[in-house]
Amino acid sequence: MSILVAKKTFLKKKSPLEMKRFIAGLLLFCLPLFALAQDPAPAGDAASGDVANGETIFKQNCASCHNTSAEKSVGPGLKGVQQRHEFPWLVKWIHNSQAMIAAGDPAAVALYKQYNQAQMTSFPNLSETDIKDILAYVEEANAAPAAVAGAPAAAGAPAAQSGAPSDLFVLVLVALLVVMLLVLGVLLVVVTLLSKAVSGDAAAGQTGTPFMERLKGTLTKTANNPAIRSATIWVFVLLVTKALIDGAFNVGVHQGYAPKQPIAYSHKLHAGEYKIDCNYCHTGANRSRSAHIPSANICMNCHGVIKKESPEIQKIYAAIENNQPIEWVRVHNLPDFAYFNHAQHVNVGGLECQQCHGEIQNMEVVEQRSSLTMGWCIDCHRKTDVNTKGNAYYDKLVQVHNEGSKENLKVADIGGLECSKCHY
Ligand code: HEC
Ligand code: HEC
Ligand code: HEC
Ligand code: HEC
Ligand code: HEC
Ligand code: HEC
Repeated sequence: MSILVAKKTFLKKKSPLEMKRFIAGLLLFCLPLFALAQDPAPAGDAASGDVANGETIFKQNCASCHNTSAEKSVGPGLKGVQQRHEFPWLVKWIHNSQAMIAAGDPAAVALYKQYNQAQMTSFPNLSETDIKDILAYVEEANAAPAAVAGAPAAAGAPAAQSGAPSDLFVLVLVALLVVMLLVLGVLLVVVTLLSKAVSGDAAAGQTGTPFMERLKGTLTKTANNPAIRSATIWVFVLLVTKALIDGAFNVGVHQGYAPKQPIAYSHKLHAGEYKIDCNYCHTGANRSRSAHIPSANICMNCHGVIKKESPEIQKIYAAIENNQPIEWVRVHNLPDFAYFNHAQHVNVGGLECQQCHGEIQNMEVVEQRSSLTMGWCIDCHRKTDVNTKGNAYYDKLVQVHNEGSKENLKVADIGGLECSKCHY
């Protein structure tokens, strides 16, 4: 509405200064919309810091095996757990349940039997306050089940109301802005033509040629102008050449490749929402060349109990029964003549998986985010400092390097650009 009014006034006055002011105004008008599109602050519970802390700890450590409700997953639902056990018992249990079972604590032994001798992870590092916070969070979650992710209702609809900024919303806003600017541009042209027509008419005193004819005349003249013509042809040629060159460089590059997998396994759910550590499944990343794709047995650690009835989970059972591995489609694949080692980068180099693979924990289906070209490897080796802290192996090297250079020791300085390091 305000835009319409603004447009009208603008059309009446049509001075260039007004025009600029109008555009500035429009941008100012749009800014708050962008701000709105950003992540809204998490509602409520800032006052009760304990619950928030408990929620963080719970989601990081417990949510992969426990619901806050009464519903079973790998372990029992934790609703009402404080009525089932005394606080000191809970502390002891969470610190080391296996020790309690071994010591023959009757409640512990009974639980262990009831859950088919599934072992709960020990958390010796959690303080009593942490555990109190977790229990406070569990209680709070049951008081207001809909408000808390991790309660079954929220678990059923992953990430729905997680408060993340909606990409679609931002996209729509940007599109709107672009359309508005385009409309403004067209308006500006029309206004210029109109004002020219009016002032032209006044100057020449002629009213004979209708406006449309002169508009047509102007356009034909523009189209016939040799300078404009050759400029257009040049732009076209350049665009086509660029597209061809880009195409040639992209032969064998599979950035963005995201094949459909045989089982609808989601990293967003497992690594994102349930915060299962990457190394739990990709056991090789820290200690070998290959990160490894987990075998069906690793899935069964949890899916022996969780969601057995789901058709997707049944595929895991079928694979195990038929003694056939699940045929995951490989996403990242270097040519055989290039050598890449995960342990060197993750363990020695201290890099995060995400630096090379992108935000895997937000992907429903894994996608190759980096180009995996030689240029990509080299580029990072040129820019990245070697992780030398606490690594005695590098001490001497750093000392020698620092005598001759002001820059930090880069991967390139330790041979990261040598052909034979990456090619056999
Ligand atoms: C790897 C899975 C796993 C993780 C992670 C886990 N638990 Fe457990 N938990 C279990 C299992 C399984 C049981 C049932 C007893 C058994 O088999 O040892 C259990 C039992 C319990 C019980 C007893 C519940 C009852 O109803 O008597 C409590 C309390 C508990 N866990 C708290 C926690 C807390 C708090 C965390 C996070 C700090 C946590 N658990 C993390 C698997 C897990
Ligand atoms: C519960 C087990 C599990 C966890 C946890 C897990 N992954 Fe995976 N990951 C898989 C499975 C299964 C596949 C193969 C299917 C697919 O591509 O989705 C896979 C595939 C991948 C691939 C693609 C492999 C290829 O074919 O090139 C990458 C990269 C990856 N995971 C990285 C990660 C990272 C990073 C994390 C932690 C943020 C993580 N994964 C956590 C099970 C897991
Ligand atoms: C540490 C525990 C854990 C491991 C290991 C694990 N999952 Fe899961 N998985 C879960 C949880 C929790 C859910 C969510 C269940 C729910 O929605 O109630 C889930 C859900 C799923 C679903 C969605 C099922 C549906 O119909 O909603 C699929 C598919 C799945 N997992 C596949 C796998 C595969 C394949 C592996 C092995 C590579 C694996 N999971 C390993 C805990 C695990
Ligand atoms: C320095 C970049 C880099 C980092 C860091 C990195 N990866 Fe990779 N990853 C790659 C490349 C390159 C490939 C393709 C390897 C090949 O084809 O030989 C790959 C392949 C994979 C695969 C497919 C199976 C395999 O090993 O070939 C998985 C799974 C994987 N990465 C998981 C992870 C996980 C989990 C982490 C973090 C613990 C991680 N990656 C860290 C670059 C990286
Ligand atoms: C995100 C940055 C990054 C990317 C991308 C990357 N590397 Fe590296 N690379 C490192 C770091 C950091 C080290 C140093 C590790 C250490 O301290 O030994 C390293 C070390 C190496 C080494 C050992 C060098 C030596 O002299 O010891 C090889 C080989 C290597 N990378 C291969 C590759 C290949 C092949 C690729 C591409 C497929 C690649 N890297 C991509 C960061 C990266
Ligand atoms: C840090 C690792 C690294 C180093 C150092 C490196 N390369 Fe490569 N090189 C790669 C990777 C990875 C590929 C595969 C890229 C692809 O598939 O697009 C590759 C591909 C190639 C190719 C195939 C053409 C192409 O671009 O796909 C040639 C030829 C080549 N490298 C030569 C060399 C020579 C010569 C050197 C030394 C001056 C060298 N490389 C150093 C990682 C490296």
